[in-house]
Amino acid sequence: MSAELLDIRNLYASVTGKEILKGINLTVGAGETHAIMGPNGSGKSTLSSVLVGNPAFEVTQGSVSFLGKNLLEMSPEERSWAGIFLSFQYPVEISGVSMVNFMRAAVNAQRTHKGEKALTAGEFLKLMREKQALVELDTNLVNRSVNEGFSGGEKKRNEIFQMAMLEPKLAILDETDSGLDIDALRIVADGVNKLKRADNATIVITHYPRLLDYIKPDVVHVLYNGQIIKTGPPELALELEEKGYDWLK
Ligand SMILES: Nc1ncnc2c1ncn2[C@@H]1O[C@H](COP(=O)(O)OP(=O)(O)O)[C@@H](O)[C@H]1O
Ligand SMILES: [Mg+2]
Repeated sequence: MSAELLDIRNLYASVTGKEILKGINLTVGAGETHAIMGPNGSGKSTLSSVLVGNPAFEVTQGSVSFLGKNLLEMSPEERSWAGIFLSFQYPVEISGVSMVNFMRAAVNAQRTHKGEKALTAGEFLKLMREKQALVELDTNLVNRSVNEGFSGGEKKRNEIFQMAMLEPKLAILDETDSGLDIDALRIVADGVNKLKRADNATIVITHYPRLLDYIKPDVVHVLYNGQIIKTGPPELALELEEKGYDWLK
């Protein structure tokens, strides 16, 4: 049995008074890749928002433990320092801040929190080059303002780069395939596959079974109307591609 990273029990959450998550149970172990699939509006992004501590969402019941700690008591920053990473479905653009400076601040904030020394300029550049090569990110993108004028594919590749730099314990990729052409999809999936280690885990959220041709999940869950209504092997994704979600209701 792999060590447990994340344990979600009977989680209920609401946004603007409307109940969206209605009793989620999910356990993710180290070294595992989980796919969460489900139709639009089923609560997939709500679940990722709740896990990173987005204040718009109110947890009304249940518990979430991350590396043995009560995640729900932690601030969004503390969650990120503890090793949770969320790739946004709609990444923000940060005008006037280059990726280099943005990542340097992010990496060093994380190191400071862990009691490690900040990286020198040279060490940081070395790390950046190594990770840039891993995800095949163009140097010219790194020197531009964060996400400003990036295409959909470039934004997504950029996120995988940020993930490579921060080496999260748990990466949550929310619909990473939206807006990606097939080549970019493959590079993103390759990055995710290359970053897979025995001591980290990934949750891939998608409604396109196609992404799972490239990222091989260990487990597939179906989220429907705020509940996980089915959990199965990777082949479940193929079945969903063929038959849709309605047969599971
Ligand atoms: N910030 C928000 N304010 C109001 N309603 C929201 C908000 N975010 C999500 N919802 C609602 O929650 C439901 C689930 O949405 P979401 O979690 O985005 O689903 P999915 O990611 O599976 O498509 C939808 O009915 C959506 O309209
Ligand atoms: Mg969504």
